[in-house]
Amino acid sequence: MSFSRREFVRRLGVGGAAAASIIGYGREELFALEQGQRGGGGGRPAMSGPAPIRLSSNENLRGPSPKVIEALKAHPSRDLGLGYPPPNVSAFVDACAAMDGAKPNNVIISTGSGEILTAAVMAYCNGDHSLVTGDPSYGSPAQTAQRIKAPVKFIAVDPKSLALDLEGMIRASIGAGLVFLCNPNNPTSTVQTSADVEQMVRTIKQRSPETGILIDEAYLEYATKPGAFTMAKLALELPGVFVSRTFSKAYGMAGMRMGYAIGQPETVRKVGNAWGLGSISELQAVAGIAALADQEHMKWEKMENKRVRDWTQAQFRAMGFETPESDTNFIFVNIRRPAVEFRDGCRALGVAVGRDFPPMEKSYARISLGRMEDMEKAMPVFKQVLGKTSV
Ligand SMILES: Cc1ncc(COP(=O)(O)O)c(C=O)c1O
Repeated sequence: MSFSRREFVRRLGVGGAAAASIIGYGREELFALEQGQRGGGGGRPAMSGPAPIRLSSNENLRGPSPKVIEALKAHPSRDLGLGYPPPNVSAFVDACAAMDGAKPNNVIISTGSGEILTAAVMAYCNGDHSLVTGDPSYGSPAQTAQRIKAPVKFIAVDPKSLALDLEGMIRASIGAGLVFLCNPNNPTSTVQTSADVEQMVRTIKQRSPETGILIDEAYLEYATKPGAFTMAKLALELPGVFVSRTFSKAYGMAGMRMGYAIGQPETVRKVGNAWGLGSISELQAVAGIAALADQEHMKWEKMENKRVRDWTQAQFRAMGFETPESDTNFIFVNIRRPAVEFRDGCRALGVAVGRDFPPMEKSYARISLGRMEDMEKAMPVFKQVLGKTSV
């Protein structure tokens, strides 16, 4: 008997993360499979033919700082025999905390920040306590909520700017279990200023003190809009507010699977107790410490991404396609036709772009930013595909 990969995932009957690791798919690709989208991720090595240029899963094709690689190579191999706990894990937690002037008990670490998102929903939502999220926004919290039968309030992004509707999210938050604020927002690429986020968080906490607030800063290192900073300080100040971070994007270490959350000790403990966060190995810890220490590299990464982003957005705008100002390592383009059409066309020419993002899949496509040379190769493909079909 044969069945599709999607059916395989469904039949496994396990959570998305577990299923993803079983069959070797990334989260974005798994969402696509679960939704039955054709060519959703496209980032897997092709079954046959050359591998596509991967502009589908918001990874970082430049990879980590060279100092991370040096640290991994230099690490004494005998230390790998010590694992309960691995020697450098507490130093890694200290390094995460130090980034925001926090203490180690303000931090929980995880095997990718995706686990923290799952844990947050498990900790704060249930049949009586809803999740509030943007629409579209990063889908994993809503999927977790649906899995545990917690109601989800989807708040549409502003139709013009595609920014999250903070006022709408505040209104929906009264009595809610958790507000998920993805800032910058995936897939729309927009960022909210810290002043606006702070006002939102304080208002929610005044009106609905028990509601948890998770601010997902997976892409914040890439934000260049003035006034868009981390909310870690606010998370340290207020109970039930926490920030999640990942090493998968600007740190270029998606394959290392590392993330963390920061907040008050009771808050992060509650999240950590709700769901397994995985554990960090010695080599992950060593790599994480080296990555955080090399902020010079991070400055370079941010500027290099901006250079690629400015060039790519200018190309689409020159073709007459609108794209909101991006503060991330991807762009969201109004291609004025279904994303699947564009995705299939690009895939046939060796470029993988993002999956569908309902409710905007009829007109918008998400394109991750690669290296400049990747975008220079992909751009003629985009031009060909967009020029070919009727607009
Ligand atoms: C907004 C956002 N949060 C969290 C994640 C999870 O990333 P990871 O588990 O690699 O840290 C992603 C992945 O694409 C994302 O886009």
